[in-house]
Amino acid sequence: MAAEAAVPDVEKKVVLTALIFCAACLALIGWAAVKLGVTVPGCVTDVKPFTEGSVTQTAPGRYEAHVVAKNWTFLPTKITVPKGSVVDFYITSKDVVHGFDIDGTNVNLMAIPGAVTYAQARFDTPGRHSVLCHEYCGNGHHDMLGRIEVTP
Ligand code: CUA
Repeated sequence: MAAEAAVPDVEKKVVLTALIFCAACLALIGWAAVKLGVTVPGCVTDVKPFTEGSVTQTAPGRYEAHVVAKNWTFLPTKITVPKGSVVDFYITSKDVVHGFDIDGTNVNLMAIPGAVTYAQARFDTPGRHSVLCHEYCGNGHHDMLGRIEVTP
């Protein structure tokens, strides 16, 4: 008859302590959800104007771009504005953390699920600006590009 290996008392105490700690954490999460009404953040991309991304003119030469980053594109993929325009960029993400960098400008934002980041840029020279994702976001990260066309 094989002798059963005895579990040392210290291991039993460690396991019991861990179980009590886990139970306490779950109880606190349940208490916060039920008594304090704490919930997971709402999804920004479920509400306009972030449902599909958009560019709207708010005044002559002024635009607002609501950009949604998602695996692995930006919506809208192309933004066209006339030269001399000032664009307010509001950026969010539909899935994971992305980046939003417009080459040739100071705009360099994070696209974060559940949050909106902001920057403003003025485009005085006609031409094309690439929009790059600068946060590794998965297999298609290297293809995640957008474009801003500044027309004469
Ligand atoms: Cu999106 Cu990298």
